[in-house]
Amino acid sequence: MALEAWFMDDSNEDQRLPHHRNPKEFVPLDHLAELGVMYWKLNPENYENDTELQKLRENRGYNYMDLLDLFPEKVSNYEEKLKNFYTEHIHADEEIRYCLAGSGYFDVRDKDDRWIRIWIKPGDLIVLPAGIYHRFTLDTTNYVKLMRLFIGEPVWTAYNRPQEEHPARKEYKKSFTNKFGTPIETH
Ligand code: LAC
Ligand code: NI
Repeated sequence: MALEAWFMDDSNEDQRLPHHRNPKEFVPLDHLAELGVMYWKLNPENYENDTELQKLRENRGYNYMDLLDLFPEKVSNYEEKLKNFYTEHIHADEEIRYCLAGSGYFDVRDKDDRWIRIWIKPGDLIVLPAGIYHRFTLDTTNYVKLMRLFIGEPVWTAYNRPQEEHPARKEYKKSFTNKFGTPIETH
């Protein structure tokens, strides 16, 4: 099944809940693509010998990888960590995550600054472009196993919003303008 994504409601309830609007407003994959979010569906079993994953990594230069297991018993200060992941931020590089087990939510801002919630499950590999405002949370199952990929030496530095002057943010907004319309010129 394709990736599920939807516009979020404004409630302050538990971040692990789905936060659908009423009625639900799903977001198609091509809308995510317009924001620069990329997606692949892979087979999460036997990921160590998956030639599709290998090819993808070669094509995109993802030479670095590590694995991240997140669940309450494993992570000290689970609630606090969860809060930190959920603080809106950007990175200077792509954020590439491949879900191997469990599930979770990556939230990204669209061009009108609305939150889109992306539900990742085993086999979902997503790439968030550098400079996009985003955050992460586990869902109510409280378990996720993620593969983190990176080009070269990994940098995990998060720059919390606002970051309008950050080069990655400026680049991101520029790519946006180039692709989706020319800025209006004033005379
Ligand atoms: C992140 C995680 C948890 O927010 O992959 O980077
Ligand atoms: Ni991030």
